[in-house]
Amino acid sequence: MADLLKETDALEEFKGKSVLITGGLGFIGSNLALRLVKAGARVTVMDAMIPDYGGNEFNVAEVASDIRVNFSDIRDENAIIYLVKNQDYVFHLAGQVCHIMSLSNPFPDIEINITGTAILMEALRKYNPEAIVVYTGTRGQYGASVSLPVNEEAPTNPKGIYEISNLTAEKIIKVYNDAHGIRSVLLRLSNIYGPRSQMLHSRFGVCNWFVRLAMDNDTIKVFGDGSILRDFCYVDDCVEAIIKSAIVEEAYGEIFNVGSDIPVSFVELVKTIIEQAGRGKWEFAEFSPERKAQEPGDFYSDITKIRRVVGWEPTTNLADGIKKTIDFYEQYRDQYWTRNDTTAGAAAQKNQVESKLIKSKS
Ligand SMILES: NC(=O)c1ccc[n+]([C@@H]2O[C@H](COP(=O)([O-])OP(=O)(O)OC[C@H]3O[C@@H](n4cnc5c(N)ncnc54)[C@H](O)[C@@H]3O)[C@@H](O)[C@H]2O)c1
Repeated sequence: MADLLKETDALEEFKGKSVLITGGLGFIGSNLALRLVKAGARVTVMDAMIPDYGGNEFNVAEVASDIRVNFSDIRDENAIIYLVKNQDYVFHLAGQVCHIMSLSNPFPDIEINITGTAILMEALRKYNPEAIVVYTGTRGQYGASVSLPVNEEAPTNPKGIYEISNLTAEKIIKVYNDAHGIRSVLLRLSNIYGPRSQMLHSRFGVCNWFVRLAMDNDTIKVFGDGSILRDFCYVDDCVEAIIKSAIVEEAYGEIFNVGSDIPVSFVELVKTIIEQAGRGKWEFAEFSPERKAQEPGDFYSDITKIRRVVGWEPTTNLADGIKKTIDFYEQYRDQYWTRNDTTAGAAAQKNQVESKLIKSKS
């Protein structure tokens, strides 16, 4: 096994480098932005701030004067061409991330996750093929596990349009890596939790949503017998995996799981959250037929490959990660518990919507 890459080595590499983070006002993207600013990188975050998606300007408030924020859409070819020029690294995290929504409306996934990825890669091919790309796909690309833990050789049988769109985006990027020499790392993330996730609705980010319910002293419903296993990974560990994989040459063109090899049942997860929050209740609930059909069953990642090639492994245990998450939301609850529509991004979004309405009326 390769020695684990030290955080300081990884951060040193980014000093003075230009990086673009698509979806950089979202959960993982903003945590990545904070880390890269700390490393001395010149950080541009771009985000479309689509209502009900994960973007929140407060996520980067503490580094607002150190970064460039660009409100544009990954589907806007001209904006993307402009943004990719002169970047050393492009972290592609923009996306429609809601599995449930993708089942009733597949088009945002197709347009944002698939077409948007093609627009980004094509812009890179034409204007900056030297940039290094990291893509964050999902463990959902595997679908139901054939055996546990799940390694990168496992078959991919996605159960939803969201997961199909991530798998397709991954394959598009792989083609640009292989055919056009755009060095790219393809990550498949498990369930990530931690500060800066949206907390307004339950449609994505199950662990963070449970944290909110506990903090509100509400009842968390655990479906079935609660024994389904998942691997939950704290966002700082995930960011570390993204950063480290970007700078390891042997990682280019490779797929890596990012998760934890310590599986946890939903009952254990909920008990940990309630214990750390000091409040909240839980009860068993029946799966709805739709949920039952979509539930892929036990899943936990085999992270042997990323440990060996990149030298990354998670270091935060579940109880500590949950505690840090609760502390963060305790402090900044007002920025996450209700929608704050006074931000510049929300205003820009509103202007766009209004101008579209005016155009369609005229
Ligand atoms: N959080 C997880 O547990 C998890 C697990 C597996 C994979 N992922 C993947 O990691 C990436 C980041 O996820 P996240 O949890 O930070 O989600 P998030 O929703 O918090 O962040 C995604 C960001 O992309 C932005 N975005 C959406 N559509 C856009 C568009 N058309 N143009 C520009 N920006 C747009 C959103 O506004 C949001 O800020 C996603 O691709 C997601 O599929 C996340």
